[in-house]
Amino acid sequence: MKIEQIKIKNYKAFKNATMHDVPQMCVIVGANGSGKSTLFDIFGFLKDSMTQNITVALAKRGGYKEVVSRNTKGPIEFEIKFRESGKSELVTYHLAIGLENNQPIIEREILRYRMGSKGLPYHFLDFSRGKGTAVTNELFYQGDIKELKREEQTLAKTDILAIKGLAQFKQFPAAATFGDLIDKWHVSDFHINQARTTKDDGYAEHLSREGDNLALVTKFMYEQHNDLFNSILDKLKKRVPGIESVDSKLTDEGSVLLRFQDGSFKDPFLARYVSDGTIKMFAYLVLLYDPNKHPLLCIEEPENQLYPTLLTELAEEFKEYSNVGGQVFISTHSPDFLNAVELEDVFWLVKNAGYTEIKRAKDDSLIASLIREGDKMGYLWKQGFFEGVNPR
Ligand SMILES: Nc1ncnc2c1ncn2[C@@H]1O[C@H](COP(=O)(O)OP(=O)(O)O)[C@@H](O)[C@H]1O
Ligand SMILES: [Mg+2]
Repeated sequence: MKIEQIKIKNYKAFKNATMHDVPQMCVIVGANGSGKSTLFDIFGFLKDSMTQNITVALAKRGGYKEVVSRNTKGPIEFEIKFRESGKSELVTYHLAIGLENNQPIIEREILRYRMGSKGLPYHFLDFSRGKGTAVTNELFYQGDIKELKREEQTLAKTDILAIKGLAQFKQFPAAATFGDLIDKWHVSDFHINQARTTKDDGYAEHLSREGDNLALVTKFMYEQHNDLFNSILDKLKKRVPGIESVDSKLTDEGSVLLRFQDGSFKDPFLARYVSDGTIKMFAYLVLLYDPNKHPLLCIEEPENQLYPTLLTELAEEFKEYSNVGGQVFISTHSPDFLNAVELEDVFWLVKNAGYTEIKRAKDDSLIASLIREGDKMGYLWKQGFFEGVNPR
C-alpha cells in the first residue's frame, strides 16, 4: 500500500496544502512550528476517528475550534489517494468535517476509485451527515459496474466514520486496506531518557512512540524472534563505528543484557557505559526490524544524540525499510541527515501569512541543479537556499 497524495484543508496550520507524488520515503524539513508534527498527526487524527469517533479525535486536540485553521470556519478536509500495490487502482478517501450546533459532524465521506483504466471514478462509499450508500459487493481488482449492489445505510450517529464499519469486512478490500493503514500507522518520537529509565516488568511486542518499552521489546525479540534479534546485533556492529562485537544473554530476572567487546554483560538501558547514540541506533533497529511492519511509519527528528556519521547509516536503514516494509515519513532539522538523502525524497514546510505551504526540493530548479552539480542538500539548507525557511 502506498500513499500517492495528501490534500489538507483547514486542519491547524494547513489551510490549504497538497503533497503530490508522495515518495516511498519522505523527508520533511522545516523550522520549529512549521507543521511537521501536524502533518504526521493527520494519521493520528484519522486513527482516533476510526477507533472512536471524530468528536473524541477533535476533543483530544482541544476541540473543533482549536483544530480548524485560525480565521476559517472549515470544514476540515482530508483527501488521501493511495494504491494497494504498484499497479492497482488509485483509491481516494475524502473526509470533510464541519461544526453544527457546536457539534462536530461528518459533512461528507467518500471512498472512490475507477473501475478499470477507462472507467469513471465510482463512489463505493458516499456518506453525508450519517446517511449514505455503500456498495455491498465491492470487487477490487476486476469487475463490472453493473454488478455492483448499492445499499442505503444510516449510521447510529453523525460523528462516526462509515469506513469504520466497512474496514473490518473482507468484501470491501479498498476500505479494509485504508483501515489497515490507519490502524497500523505508527509515529516514533524517541526520547533517550525514557528508554534509559525503561521498566522491565511487563510485555511489549512493538516499540512505543517514545521508546520507553525498549527493554521489553528487546526481550520479546530475543525470546520470540531470536534470528531477527541477532541480525539487529549484526546491523549494530555494521552501523555503529567502534562496535566490533556484541552479544547478548537473558538474566534470571528476565532482562536482556548486552556485552560489547570490552567484557562483562551489562544492562544497556540502565548502564551509562553504552552511549546514547548506540542505544538510539539499537532502538531504531528494533523498530525497523519489527516482524510486523507498519504500512506507514512516521519518525520525528531522529537526529538528536546521533553523530553525523550515524545519521548517514540511519538514513540508509530508513530507506531500506521503505523499500521492503512500509512508507516512511521523517521530520528533521538536521543538515547532516539531509546530506544523506536523495533530492526526490525531500519536502520542506514554510509558513506563509500564518499557514503552512508544502514545497518540494526537486521542484525548485536552483536547488535541483545545484544538487546535480554535486552540492550537498544539508549545505544548501544551512545556506538558506530553501526559500522562506529563515523567517526574515
Ligand atoms: N488552528 C490553527 N490554525 C493555524 N495554525 C495553527 C493552529 N493550531 C496550531 N497552529 C500552528 O501550528 C504550528 C505547530 O506546528 P507543529 O506541527 O508543531 O510544527 P513542527 O512540528 O514543525 O515544529 C504552530 O505554529 C501553531 O501556531
Ligand atoms: Mg514537531
